[in-house]
Amino acid sequence: MAKQALFKAYDLTRKKPHKIPSPPTKLTESRLSENEWKVSKRPEVRGSKKPVKKGRTKKSAAAAVEKAPKRAADLLRCKGGEFQCLHCEAFSDEASCGTACYKQFRREHFPSDRIDIRGPGLLGYGAFTKPGVTIPKGAWVGEYLGELRPLTADTTSTYRFEIPGVCAVDARSSGNWTRFINSHCRPNVKPWGETVGKRHVILFQALREIGPEEEITFNYGGRYFENAGFLCGCDAQKKAHLPAGAKQTKGKKK
Ligand SMILES: C[S@@+](CC[C@H](N)C(=O)[O-])C[C@H]1O[C@@H](n2cnc3c(N)ncnc32)[C@H](O)[C@@H]1O
Ligand SMILES: [Zn+2]
Ligand SMILES: [Zn+2]
Repeated sequence: MAKQALFKAYDLTRKKPHKIPSPPTKLTESRLSENEWKVSKRPEVRGSKKPVKKGRTKKSAAAAVEKAPKRAADLLRCKGGEFQCLHCEAFSDEASCGTACYKQFRREHFPSDRIDIRGPGLLGYGAFTKPGVTIPKGAWVGEYLGELRPLTADTTSTYRFEIPGVCAVDARSSGNWTRFINSHCRPNVKPWGETVGKRHVILFQALREIGPEEEITFNYGGRYFENAGFLCGCDAQKKAHLPAGAKQTKGKKK
């Protein structure tokens, strides 16, 4: 079994009052934020106090800038052999595992035509199972996709997940249906950092059976609401509230 690590949802530093954004009219599943990668510095280089060698030209100093990845797949590829594929259970240095695993995993676990986007409601748009669809407990429900941005890039997006040491996945303007998953204090899915076909992925797993026309939700966590400066409006409580783990002082009504 692959090592499971809970992702920190939305590394959010937004201080401004909250507004529900309109969804993009057309969503591209994933793309690279090319300009950001061209100018992004590697985190360890950024704070480095190493003296610049005598005679070093401006051009060679620019080598400290991260090399822009060419494709999303290059960026997400596992480095080293310690990651285990959720599909075939091979480790990331074994030749038997690769893109085919990723494609097969998606085909097997994410049938099309299961999810509806509904709204806007009180929490904006939301993701629901279609009539007649039931998702069993433990099933992989979807993959979080979006624009792949350097970890050092500005973080004001509320659609951002981090893959530690790799990149941030920001679904503000690119993504799939999972960008519409709202937060709930009694959620029915949970996000995990996983590896499929030598690729880092963020997957949502069903915490219980999800019935037809049920809203799919995960818990963004107390920190999200604390930083965003508004309360959780889910129906686990009658009034808007701070989810467990948030400090009481900062939340204010939306
Ligand atoms: C990842 S988006 C979810 C999709 C969003 N509803 C939309 O229409 O695009 C996160 C945003 O949805 C809203 N939201 C989601 N869950 C919420 C909750 N439990 N309470 C209040 N606002 C919520 C907030 O506007 C939040 O910034
Ligand atoms: Zn595999
Ligand atoms: Zn809540």
